[in-house]
Amino acid sequence: MAPKINATSCDVLIIGAGGAGLRAAIEAHEVGAKVIVLSKSLLGKAHTVMAEGGIAASVANVDSKDNWKVHFSDTVIEGGYIGDWRMIEKLAKEAPDRVYELEHYGALFDRTADGKIMQRAFGAHTYRRLCHVGDKTGLELIRTLQDQILHRDIKILDELYVTKLIVKENSIKGAIGFSMRTGEFFSFACKAVIVATGGAGMVYRVTSNSWESTGDGMALAYEAGAALKDMEMVQFHPTGMVYPLGVRGLLVTEGVRGEGGYLYNSKMERFMIRYSPERKELDARDVVARAIYNEIIEGRGTEHNAVYLDIKHKGAQFILKKLPAMYTQFKDFAGIDITKEMMEVAPTVHYFMGGIEVDPESSATSVVGLYAAGEAAAGVHGANRLGGNSLADILVFGRQVGRHAGKFALSIPIPKLEDNEVEGEIERIMAFTEKKNGINPNELIDTLRDTMSAHVGIIRNEPELESALSKINALNKKYSEVYAPGGVVFNHGLLYCMELKSMLTIAQAIVLCAIWRKESRGAHTRSDYPKKDIAFRKNSIVRLEKDSMTISYRELVEMPKHLSALVKEEEYK
Ligand code: FUM
Repeated sequence: MAPKINATSCDVLIIGAGGAGLRAAIEAHEVGAKVIVLSKSLLGKAHTVMAEGGIAASVANVDSKDNWKVHFSDTVIEGGYIGDWRMIEKLAKEAPDRVYELEHYGALFDRTADGKIMQRAFGAHTYRRLCHVGDKTGLELIRTLQDQILHRDIKILDELYVTKLIVKENSIKGAIGFSMRTGEFFSFACKAVIVATGGAGMVYRVTSNSWESTGDGMALAYEAGAALKDMEMVQFHPTGMVYPLGVRGLLVTEGVRGEGGYLYNSKMERFMIRYSPERKELDARDVVARAIYNEIIEGRGTEHNAVYLDIKHKGAQFILKKLPAMYTQFKDFAGIDITKEMMEVAPTVHYFMGGIEVDPESSATSVVGLYAAGEAAAGVHGANRLGGNSLADILVFGRQVGRHAGKFALSIPIPKLEDNEVEGEIERIMAFTEKKNGINPNELIDTLRDTMSAHVGIIRNEPELESALSKINALNKKYSEVYAPGGVVFNHGLLYCMELKSMLTIAQAIVLCAIWRKESRGAHTRSDYPKKDIAFRKNSIVRLEKDSMTISYRELVEMPKHLSALVKEEEYK
């Protein structure tokens, strides 16, 4: 039976309902655009909730010396000097306003004794800067934005997977997708598309990300002609759970260390004193993750190949007040009472600094009408993201992208989708369900995730990366054989066929960029090129050209003197 097609139209189509997508929807609606938001999973279930510890904003409620200039400098330095200074300046200057706006929207922040928004320490931030809601900040952010959306005339379609962006002569015309719940296909004629689909942690075996994070939006934008930037920069959060296996990789917030937690190896040495005598547990994520990795491979790990994280010295009352989600998570999943026992933790893939290349002023890609924001977009975080900067990013750039895409959309007529553009794509999707035999896509996904974890981890080298590339090439060849017998309604096999394609694109991009970057910078550590090399102080770029992925680079735009003067380290100059 031919599937039902719902043809609909709007000014701005937003793909992704995490913090960036929801903030963008509010803003595009404010400027007068008709907005539709699409979510791959249920509304409210976004990776944003995994940014637990807070929003980085120099409101200076706890440390009065903090200001945007210090936040700017911290972000430039920890981003390995390849972040886009124009975006970093905007982030640092605007984050306080976005936090107050969120408060006015109804977010219930923790408070200081004199009633101001409370802030906590986080790795490599000079001052206590993270405005937080216990250890559930991302959740509160999503709840608050969702509340705002529901009170506006913004349509949300959830459990809807987008398979293709329709582009003509380098301009966006619309998108096609299917509802996993009803099996119906949808075509959206629209003037602008905002990709806000987050990252792609699921290309790795151990990740804090949940099943949705398969890089679909980045892959859609790449297929549509946009460039991907700095894809080798994958952040391993130092602390993920290690057991039971079902929750391996689940985030243990940096808030535990921010509130005074210590890391120990199996000899009960507080090893961060050795790696980072000044900052200790509160050094940047790349530094702490490499230190933990090193302790484990040098034989000082626990029985579960982890290290210990201990906060019990702070006392039960403090822990239950500041870290209630961590208490419940360990109690319910591992039977560990963190007020009395130590946690076991190890690095987990958490965040993609790389993503879709966007214009720093408008968040537009090189495809007219196509925009991106949040983790799906690159630029702000360079080679390594500071904790808490992701929530600041989605609020600042979610607003920017919504405003620009909204205004752009109001300036042009609605495009018309041709029947063959829609039907051709639906036939492509249905073919996976109609094949009588083939390969289960899940098998290839498993191989891909194991390959990435084995060869493209925290420490990389040329032979390992080449080996990953040839395995990915082999998986790409097998892709034409995957199938998903059955219908469309909740056919997980069909979803895996779609996601596998995105994941292969993302994995190939990571590996190509990692091979290109013959140095160590931020989250990208090469054992064969252990030092930073000024020749690589630039951004890697991949794009689709003549049906294959090409790699090149982009020179940095020079930072003006009044800003470089703020950056404390000599090295920048
Ligand atoms: O550790 C955390 O709470 C994560 C925060 C972040 O990724 O920004």
